[in-house]
Amino acid sequence: MSKLLKVDSISKSYKTGNKVLKVLENISFDLNKGEFLAITGVSGVGKSTLLNLVGLLDKPDSGEIELGNVKYSSLTEDQKSTFRNKHLGFVFQFHHLLPEFTVIENIAMPFVIGNGDFDKGFKKAEMLAKAVGLGERLEHFPTMLSGGEQQRVAVARAIVNNPDLLLMDEPTGNLDPKTGKMVMDYVFQLRNTYNLSCIIVTHNIEIAKRCDKIFSMETLECNYV
Ligand SMILES: Nc1ncnc2c1ncn2[C@@H]1O[C@H](COP(=O)(O)OP(=O)(O)O)[C@@H](O)[C@H]1O
Ligand SMILES: [Mg+2]
Repeated sequence: MSKLLKVDSISKSYKTGNKVLKVLENISFDLNKGEFLAITGVSGVGKSTLLNLVGLLDKPDSGEIELGNVKYSSLTEDQKSTFRNKHLGFVFQFHHLLPEFTVIENIAMPFVIGNGDFDKGFKKAEMLAKAVGLGERLEHFPTMLSGGEQQRVAVARAIVNNPDLLLMDEPTGNLDPKTGKMVMDYVFQLRNTYNLSCIIVTHNIEIAKRCDKIFSMETLECNYV
């Protein structure tokens, strides 16, 4: 298996006023292409912080992250947004779908933004809507869908650009267990078709067990400095 992601000794603190909250200290791990990694740990331990760093939404204080041989520290702010659109897919606890756009438009959006080709984007979006069981709902607006269906649209949208890495932050945190399982069943089906690589932050041990590796985060002994 070839290496996809290398997280090398990253640390991150937040400064508020004159207090510094240390959240991550010298975290290192690797992910191969096609692998699924689950991240677990109590609320506040730094799971979202870590995902935001891997997702290029925030910068570590020290250490390096490398995706497909591109060092994050080498990217300018402009390059970062292009890189995110092309190489990373995001699914959050709340779907963040655009309410004034239909299912197919929401899914196609990142493709159209990155590629400019409407026809291709809509074809791809239709295929993905079908793959998450929403082929009959293309013209529906997000408010017309259930929570699980909205989250399936978010999954389809997150992979429309064939990202190298899909990042999911508590994707089923807002769903009942049965619906959550159904959403993840679709993700695991897509995994096989698209050879997805994925990091999933989850409190759900059943989901974590379906991944190749589990990274269990623990609170730092002393995190106020
Ligand atoms: N932007 C921020 N500014 C200050 N503190 C933050 C910020 N984001 C997160 N934190 C703090 O960092 C810690 C880790 O947060 P987070 O990564 O969201 O944890 P988790 O996702 O594991 O629940 C928490 O104590 C949280 O309050
Ligand atoms: Mg979180």
